[in-house]
Amino acid sequence: MHASVCDFVLDVVQNSVEAGARLVELDLFEEGGRISVRVADDGRGMTGEERARALDPFRSDGGKHPGRRVGLGLPFLEQAVRAADGEFDLESRKGRGTTLRFSFPADHLDTPPTGDVPGLFRSALAFEGGYEMRIRRRREARPGEPGTEYEVIRSELREAAGDLSGATALILAGRYLESLEGSGDGPRE
Ligand SMILES: Nc1ncnc2c1ncn2[C@@H]1O[C@H](COP(=O)(O)OP(=O)(O)OP(=O)(O)O)[C@@H](O)[C@H]1O
Ligand SMILES: [Mg+2]
Repeated sequence: MHASVCDFVLDVVQNSVEAGARLVELDLFEEGGRISVRVADDGRGMTGEERARALDPFRSDGGKHPGRRVGLGLPFLEQAVRAADGEFDLESRKGRGTTLRFSFPADHLDTPPTGDVPGLFRSALAFEGGYEMRIRRRREARPGEPGTEYEVIRSELREAAGDLSGATALILAGRYLESLEGSGDGPRE
């Protein structure tokens, strides 16, 4: 299985939610020849030792999910970033929170495909729990393709679409996110 950038990001966001974050910030920018991601949370954070363990590709934790998917998680993300000459930085403070930043050069052969951006946002917003989330998205215009720039706040979306556990709300939210991604000038009716 080859993970897209969006697959990796969803994994990282899930960690933030599972770490008990009240606020998760997600930036996804495609500009200046790079795909840049920042995920910041105010969850429980990690000690230096926990951080090293989280990044260790040989860690075997007996498995929350024995035998599950390969190729995701922080060690694989770091590996994918390094293979494409990208940048990777994980900062964490126990009891305070965690910030992960990484970027890929857009034109490197080993850079994974970006993947399904509105699908990523929809899933990232739909985890269970009362966390707030602020998404910032920018994509530079390319020949034949307009750029886009928008922001989504989870609490505002939930006010408009309802809580995102129901199928109808999820479909509505998905359409809304697709319209933001596609047009750059907001949803069209
Ligand atoms: N944002 C974060 N805040 C606090 N701890 C984190 C964060 N991200 C990762 N960790 C720690 O690193 C560990 C490893 O993360 P990783 O995503 O690789 O596996 P997992 O979340 O335990 O399992 P899975 O992702 O398969 O559900 C986590 O269990 C957690 O202890
Ligand atoms: Mg995880």
